[in-house]
Amino acid sequence: MNKNEVFEQRRKALQEMEDNAAHRQHLKGKLTARERLNILFDEGTFFELEAFVAPSQTPMSSRQANFGDGVIVGRGLVQGRSVFAYAQDFTVLGGSLGYAHGMKIAKVQEMALKLGAPIVGLIDSGGARIQEGIKSLSAYAGIFRNNVMSSGIIPQISAILGPAAGGAVYSPALTDFVFMTNKTSYMFVTGPDIVKEVLNESIDMEGLGGGSIHASKSGVAHFVSDDEEHTILLIRKLLSYIPSNNYETLPVANRISYYSTRQEFLDKIIPDDPNRAYDMKDIINILVDKDTFFEVHEKFAQNILVGFARLNGKTIGIVANQPKVMAGTLDINASVKGARFIRYCDAFNIPLLILEDVPGFLPGIEQEHSGIIRNGAKLVYAFCEATVPKITVITRKAYGGAYIVMSSKNTGGDFNFAWPSAEIAVMGPGGAIRIVNKHELSKAENKEELEKTLTEKYKNEVANPYKAEEFGLIDEVIVPSKTRDILITAFDILSNKQYVKPARKHGSIPL
Ligand code: HXC
Repeated sequence: MNKNEVFEQRRKALQEMEDNAAHRQHLKGKLTARERLNILFDEGTFFELEAFVAPSQTPMSSRQANFGDGVIVGRGLVQGRSVFAYAQDFTVLGGSLGYAHGMKIAKVQEMALKLGAPIVGLIDSGGARIQEGIKSLSAYAGIFRNNVMSSGIIPQISAILGPAAGGAVYSPALTDFVFMTNKTSYMFVTGPDIVKEVLNESIDMEGLGGGSIHASKSGVAHFVSDDEEHTILLIRKLLSYIPSNNYETLPVANRISYYSTRQEFLDKIIPDDPNRAYDMKDIINILVDKDTFFEVHEKFAQNILVGFARLNGKTIGIVANQPKVMAGTLDINASVKGARFIRYCDAFNIPLLILEDVPGFLPGIEQEHSGIIRNGAKLVYAFCEATVPKITVITRKAYGGAYIVMSSKNTGGDFNFAWPSAEIAVMGPGGAIRIVNKHELSKAENKEELEKTLTEKYKNEVANPYKAEEFGLIDEVIVPSKTRDILITAFDILSNKQYVKPARKHGSIPL
């Protein structure tokens, strides 16, 4: 065969592989690796690398040609910006990671890091290639190391679009954002068969490690959708908010619109009854540019909200208590969710807006024994450590330790505002007067009446934003309907914030 014939034969083989892949994947309701990349990238921009790399050793059995060793890697453009990607092909040896396959992934990881571009992994794999033994494991090890070395320098995104089992789950887990699809993707360290064998517990793949479980219970997945196309389009959306690396300035939207007439709703949005819930998302959606709130971890620890948005066209990260769920208390999951998001924003210079209505940390044996102290400390650490511009708006409750944690002035908040409805104190009126006025109350003839009077007095004299304003711990009590304008100005003032930390190798976050 002459060189031209080899060239032709190879192109033909690639096409045949794709046709075969389409047939097999579509039967399972899945797309091929190439189809996925075509959705991810702007049309015609994907530049493939190493399409013809051979497997590092001949598999014990194989039903088809294996050019490229079961993974497609390369670079393309997303909204005109450079992004590297790899997409595993389940139809080649179950997308398993052989040595050559692993080296291809490592190559694009290293290029992405060197060139300051995000990397996206589209994962559909049976894990380490059994036939290649330790070579396959060592390839994984290199990928993990690259994940860690790239952390905080370039965004790393994983989409699980099929199986991800065993130790193979740890590469996605080391990345910044994990996407999953319902019904067709699953992640677990040990599968249902082993769970049954070792623990005698019966569960199917979806129940053990499907998209909805990881999005709502374990928190492993940040996003879950019903189909692959939507999943990949969400990745494109996420990329539109974040910089390509930790030195790049934030992307700015070229069109800005906001709900100018709805700002006044904010003056009436906080219920008169302090025990009545409201939806913090309504406040967020009115404050930020129209339809730009992009929630992260939407289904996990819903008592805290985190996500990206645009304010006057510029990306911000939002961390907000959600009074609608568990009264907005902070528990273990909320602390970990918040801390992780804050650290991402800080690493990539995304300013933080904190919206606060928090009665405290969640009490209880379960929380204490599961480590609310250790996990709550992560949130404290993340806020104190973050040097990006941080602006807090207290909408209602800001009590005790939870007040301190949510980017209070002395943890390093740059601007701390409060609405007139804010209640800032060591604790709520009920608990406070029961402790401070214990003796008076025990002797009172009309206990209820006295409680009412003391509560009013406490609210007027202690639990209000004006005391904090007098102490300089709140910069200003602001009119809710003016919040958007004030935030735009405040973030603008902070836009040149520089903070040089004393040198250290790294802190010792209470993990
Ligand atoms: C080699 C593999 C493979 C693997 C699947 N295949 N997994 N080949 N190494 N790890 C091959 C199958 O032999 C088959 O080849 C083809 O892929 C499709 O697999 P099926 O089993 O027919 O598909 P399906 O029924 O959809 O089941 C998918 C699956 C199952 C659930 C992923 O294949 C499976 O359980 N695989 C093993 C998963 C696993 O335990 N991996 C190791 C995890 S430990 P043919 O030629 O018939 O098409 C690990 C360590 C990583 O990954 C450590 C990192 C530090």
